[in-house]
Amino acid sequence: MRPLIVIGNWKMNGSLASNADWVKTVCRGMEQGMPSGRQYAFCAPFPYLSQCGQLIRDCSLAFLTLGAQDVSAHTAGAYTGEVAASMLKEMACKFVIVGHSERRQLHQETDELVAEKALQALDCGMTPVICVGESADERNSGREVEVVRGQIAKQVAVLQDRLADCLIAYEPIWAIGTGQVASAQLAQDMHRAIRLQLAEFDADVASHVGILYGGSVKPDNAVELFAMPDIDGGLIGGASLNPQDFLAICQA
Ligand code: PGA
Repeated sequence: MRPLIVIGNWKMNGSLASNADWVKTVCRGMEQGMPSGRQYAFCAPFPYLSQCGQLIRDCSLAFLTLGAQDVSAHTAGAYTGEVAASMLKEMACKFVIVGHSERRQLHQETDELVAEKALQALDCGMTPVICVGESADERNSGREVEVVRGQIAKQVAVLQDRLADCLIAYEPIWAIGTGQVASAQLAQDMHRAIRLQLAEFDADVASHVGILYGGSVKPDNAVELFAMPDIDGGLIGGASLNPQDFLAICQA
C-alpha cells in the first residue's frame, strides 16, 4: 500500500512572520486529528528552511515534515548561488522538488540535469519529488503521453531502481496556477500511463513509486483526485499558501 502524501510548494512566497503563523495554524489543525498513515510536508524557500525546521520540531508531529524546492546537481565547491543536498539534509529536509516546470522553463533545466539533482537528494537520504508534465500545446496536439514518457524514460535511464525511493509529480503545465485543474479521470489516465511505463522497467519499482498530482489542486477537488487508484497525493502550489486550505486538502 502506498501512503497518501500531500506536499505544499510555497514557491517564492513567505516571510518570517507569515511562516510562523502558517506553521502554528497547520500544527494546531493537525493536532485535532488527521487520517492515519498519511504524510504531509511543505517546501519553503531556502532562507526559511532553518526557521521552518525549528517550527515543526516545536510542534513535533511525526507526519509533518519539511522539503526544499530545488537542489544543486553538484556536491560542493565553486557553484555560486547553489545549495547542496547535504545542506538541505542538515536543515532537516525530507523531500526535495526537482524539475518543477517553472525551473525547466525559466532556467532551462533538462531531464538529464533533473536526474542528477534527484541523485544528489537520494545520496543524502532525501526523497526527490521529480516533476513531469506536458504543456497546453503538447496536449492540444495529442502528444501528452509521448512527452511525459520521454521525461520518465530519462529518469529511468539515470536512476534505475533507485526510482523506487523517489516520488513523481505529474503536473500538467496548463493546470499550474491557472485554476484549470485536470479532471480526476484525465489525471488518473496519465498516472496509469506513468505506472505502466515504470512497470516495463521493473514491476516492483512501479508498484512502490508514489505519483502525486499537481496543478490547481484546491480543497474542493482534492477528494475526487485523491480517490483515484494511481493518484497517491498532491503537490500543492497556490492553495498551500493558505493554511486552512492546505489543512482541508490534507484532510481530503
Ligand atoms: P498550483 O501549483 O497548485 O498553484 O497550480 C502547483 C505547483 O506548481 O506545484
